Amino acid sequence: MPTYAKGLEGVIAADTKMSYIDGEQGVLEYVGIPIGELASHSTFEETVFLLWNLRLPRKGELESFTADLRSRYEVPAGFESKLLQMPRDARPMHVLRTLVSALSLHDTNPDANDLASLRSKALNILARTPTILAYYHRFRSGLPFVRPDPSLSIAENFLYMLNGRKPTPTMAKAMDVCLVLHADHGLNNSTFSARVVISTLSDMYSAIVAAIGSLKGPLHGGANEGVMVMLNEIPNLESVEKYVLDKLAKKDKIMGFGHRVYKAYDPRAAHLQSLAKQLAQDTGNADLYAKSKKIEDVMGQAVAAKGIYPNVDFYSATTYHCIGLPLDLFTPVFVIARIGGWAGHVIEQMSDNRLYRPTTDYTGPHAQAYVPMDKR
Ligand code: ACO
Repeated sequence: MPTYAKGLEGVIAADTKMSYIDGEQGVLEYVGIPIGELASHSTFEETVFLLWNLRLPRKGELESFTADLRSRYEVPAGFESKLLQMPRDARPMHVLRTLVSALSLHDTNPDANDLASLRSKALNILARTPTILAYYHRFRSGLPFVRPDPSLSIAENFLYMLNGRKPTPTMAKAMDVCLVLHADHGLNNSTFSARVVISTLSDMYSAIVAAIGSLKGPLHGGANEGVMVMLNEIPNLESVEKYVLDKLAKKDKIMGFGHRVYKAYDPRAAHLQSLAKQLAQDTGNADLYAKSKKIEDVMGQAVAAKGIYPNVDFYSATTYHCIGLPLDLFTPVFVIARIGGWAGHVIEQMSDNRLYRPTTDYTGPHAQAYVPMDKR
């Protein structure tokens, strides 16, 4: 007999060796390594290697993986004209969804799903998405493109292409840590979307594009922008309590809180909290951090008993603001990080594929007469 779980809550739908989550204890590991260890000691490139190979790289392996990735930073010849056709007032998540899809048009064999092809496509998408995003931001701002610099990491290069100057080591490190923390997270909605699409033997681009569409929703990755909107709406520290309690009284959700899996503190939020605090002090944004902390305190008193704590999106908003990212690039930056996870899951799905095809519980009528148009 089929079982029914609305929203597939609690249903195990795939095996993975990539990330492990214990929502009761607030644990997240990538391939068995606690997320805090990776945030403290790893880099985004090494983390992606770990997720795709299920082990840490040796020195030479990391060097050649990184060199391969960096050699693919530039968009394909002829691609820039597509960028220039985007409306300047388009939303960056819509631009990314459109242009990551367009990358497949420059692939001579976009449907190849053997392991080597999947890995190569994953590298191309991971290397070029930051370029697409930075180029689009420069274009909409009326600024010339800044070509990618293959001597820089993904994090450094993205900030360099966006701003036209190399980031300080502190900002580059903060960006890199954010990418590590957002790289993978079990069978979340966007990862599930990617696995569903590739399970039809479609292609890597289609799977990643579906995942981008999923991530942009405000209940998922779009929440980081919602957090910043909320922080901007609250005029000062004194207004926080009333703002939050009024929202809760109206049954509105507070963005950046709650999680389908975590009923304890999200370990990524714990790391981001200290990062946000430090960056806020360094960049003259102490008031923003103070407001965030106060929201957390008010929420703690009001709803922590229900297992609602800050999630990864809550302190990433303050962190991204302090790094200098425009508000509507917060979720696109999440895309860059999560491509590491999505592509790894596509590869994992293809290693032991079974078509996803759940069923519905039909609750409509049966055996109805067809009523002619003039009798309705
Ligand atoms: N603010 C206030 N109350 C909340 C919140 C919140 N952010 N999240 C959950 N609750 C309450 C609900 O109102 C509900 O209360 P009730 O039992 O009294 O009706 C209870 O907690 C359970 O909430 P659900 O929405 O059923 O829980 P679910 O597991 O579906 O929620 C979700 C997960 C969608 C993330 C939810 O917490 C939410 O909407 N949060 C805000 C959006 C957000 O931050 N999303 C990012 C998630 S992390 C990520 O995707 C990267």
